[in-house]
Amino acid sequence: MDVTQAIKSRKSVRSFLDKKVEKETLTSILEMARIAPSFFNYQNWRFVVIQNIQTKRKLVNDAKSPSFVAESPIVIVGCGKPFESITSSDNSSYIIDTTIALNHVTLAAVQFGLGSCWINIFDEKKVKEILDIPEEIRVVALLSLGYPKDVSVSEKKRKTMSQLIKFEKW
Ligand SMILES: Cc1cc2nc3c(=O)[nH]c(=O)nc-3n(C[C@H](O)[C@H](O)[C@H](O)COP(=O)(O)O)c2cc1C
Repeated sequence: MDVTQAIKSRKSVRSFLDKKVEKETLTSILEMARIAPSFFNYQNWRFVVIQNIQTKRKLVNDAKSPSFVAESPIVIVGCGKPFESITSSDNSSYIIDTTIALNHVTLAAVQFGLGSCWINIFDEKKVKEILDIPEEIRVVALLSLGYPKDVSVSEKKRKTMSQLIKFEKW
């Protein structure tokens, strides 16, 4: 599968088959995140990979993430470490770096027939409590991952190129 195909085939998956993701598959996908680019190559992102059902239920019940999180075979919690001394225009590069790594996962997953969905709805304090995430670390996003129940191709509802992209000047 080439990159174009992977990008075009990826869609948000919120309903999963009760089918285990093989360890080798998960490792291959996580390897694509490992080699993602980052600001100054600091690699200031970390993932917590959740497969335990009790933990997933806590993410739904206590941290108020969407109910499909408990049905996802795997939940990746994307975390980043903000810079203590600001070396760039601001200290938000951990968000960008974590997002890039997670996005590599979403695209690599397609190649293995897996679906994913970004999750931005969660109580960060509770997520950190549940997973023992240190104080200085921020939770950027969650990603559900698993074999999709529905493999149909859905139309991408997107703005037009001219609405989104300007050339040379705004
Ligand atoms: C940063 C981010 C956060 C998102 N958060 C959620 C979420 O909390 N719950 C959810 O159901 N979908 C969430 N989504 C999925 C979007 O709704 C979805 O990507 C968008 O509607 C486009 O559909 P597609 O992914 O199928 O192409 C999120 C997507 C992104 C990129």
